[in-house]
Amino acid sequence: MTKASDVEQELWLFGYGSLIWKPPPHFDLRVPGYVEGYVRRFWQASEDHRGTPEAPGRVVTLIDRAHWETLVDEHSDASATTWGAAYRIPGPHVAEVREYLDIREINGYSIQYTPFHVSRSFAASHNLPAPINCLVYVGLPDNPQFVGPQDAQLLAEHIVRSRGPSGENKDYLYGLDRSLLELGEGSEDEHVHDLARRCREIEGRSSDSSVIGSELRRVGSTDEQEETEK
Ligand code: SIN
Repeated sequence: MTKASDVEQELWLFGYGSLIWKPPPHFDLRVPGYVEGYVRRFWQASEDHRGTPEAPGRVVTLIDRAHWETLVDEHSDASATTWGAAYRIPGPHVAEVREYLDIREINGYSIQYTPFHVSRSFAASHNLPAPINCLVYVGLPDNPQFVGPQDAQLLAEHIVRSRGPSGENKDYLYGLDRSLLELGEGSEDEHVHDLARRCREIEGRSSDSSVIGSELRRVGSTDEQEETEK
């Protein structure tokens, strides 16, 4: 029989991707910190948020570190800690938030539970359990959206040209890069940061060439005008 206390139990959720800067509804506490034993990679195809079924974008998933070590990854270093944000959902809202998350994370993600470590500076001012057992959505290697190791430059190019119902794929990457830097000391992620740097560089190059392109078009159209005026 279900007791009232079971129904009312709060939920802790760990976000390592869009959940860092696009929080779930109804949380009453957001806590910066990290998990261990995983590596974050842009190796999950997105058909529903940052791409479409015809042209999937790329979003992050967590790879079990022991599995990642068997793979050949151009980004061959990965921090022992994966930083993100944990959210506390009060008991009365848990069912609604679970439903919301199951829809938001439907594209290949499965549920796992993992110990979450509160950042030292936050722990100093809050009385929280250590570690906190958190629910986390992970795109496992056997899910159909898992794309595996990617060439970093091709991946950046793919991200720059992808978009979906939630917006530009590059904005997901830039949002993640920015929000990671705000979490605490040592929270940056080299994989994410390198991809963001490559995307900015690709965008810079294409805006240079569109300026050159519009200059050429302007010169071209003046020439054409001059020709008709002669
Ligand atoms: C997460 O943020 O924790 C899951 C991946 C995503 O939705 O970006």
